[in-house]
Amino acid sequence: MRHLFRLTDWTPDDVHRLLDRAEALAAGGATADLSGTFAANLFFEPSTRTRFSFEVAEKRLGMHVLNVTPEASSVKKGETLYDTLKTLEAIGVSVAVVRHPEEGYYEGLGEGLGLSVINAGDGCGHHPTQTLIDLYTIRREFGTLKDVTVAIIGDLRHSRVARSNAEMLVKMGACVVLSGPPEWRDPDFPGEYVAIDEAVRCADVVNLLRIQLERHNGGEDELVADYHRAYGLTAARAHLMKPGAIIMHPAPVNRGVEIADVLVEAPNARIFAQMQAGPFVRMAVLEWAFKRERVAKSWACC
Ligand code: NCD
Repeated sequence: MRHLFRLTDWTPDDVHRLLDRAEALAAGGATADLSGTFAANLFFEPSTRTRFSFEVAEKRLGMHVLNVTPEASSVKKGETLYDTLKTLEAIGVSVAVVRHPEEGYYEGLGEGLGLSVINAGDGCGHHPTQTLIDLYTIRREFGTLKDVTVAIIGDLRHSRVARSNAEMLVKMGACVVLSGPPEWRDPDFPGEYVAIDEAVRCADVVNLLRIQLERHNGGEDELVADYHRAYGLTAARAHLMKPGAIIMHPAPVNRGVEIADVLVEAPNARIFAQMQAGPFVRMAVLEWAFKRERVAKSWACC
């Protein structure tokens, strides 16, 4: 079994293979037979899309699904995450999908575990499956990731999606530009910071982010109140976009804050297409986690 904590070690070929497999699944290709295996979903932070698209993916692969509610589990009695995962492994679970508020919660976790851990988001850290969904969406749109200009706009410092996306887009040969309030910049991000209008004008993909208020310490009320005008994709600003350029957002969307209400379902918005891709990309990830054991045959065909 393999872990997916972050995509840092993945090569462009690894990514393309995974996206190819997700495309084959989306086109109705036969899935690997994982029937009889167990998946556990452990979400220590709120989630709608990620949790349920993992559950759909697991069920489409024939897996039995356990949804662990942290508040009703022995985590409440002081059990560590490692011991909880070890327990799930002992009772027969093969894959655990984990979202956790602590950045890098998975450091050192993998060694003793026989089950596979798939990171569904760690604090401000990484969100590998959302990044694969975003790469899938962009590759489908433009036929390539190479030389596509992606403007990542908003609360960069606190966004695990932004961090994962920037890292992998650069690795895949895309061109990344960044924009957003100076207070929320992160010098570790690859890509050049530009003014918001410039970012919108030059991009093939306008990748917006929600303000991660749950990770802020407060005291930014004025910035937040003026955010839409200063840094959001307003209806007027959207006119600056190039013909053929698309709008993406990992969601949840705060309409009227990072994006104008009317743009969420605009013809060039791919926000719901990203969600549609979610179960297929996550099926491919789950198959990948099992690959050597169960699914080598299905992957050999694509
Ligand atoms: C994101 C997350 O949880 O990091 N959502 C998601 O998984 N689609 C983005 C966000 O919460 O803003």
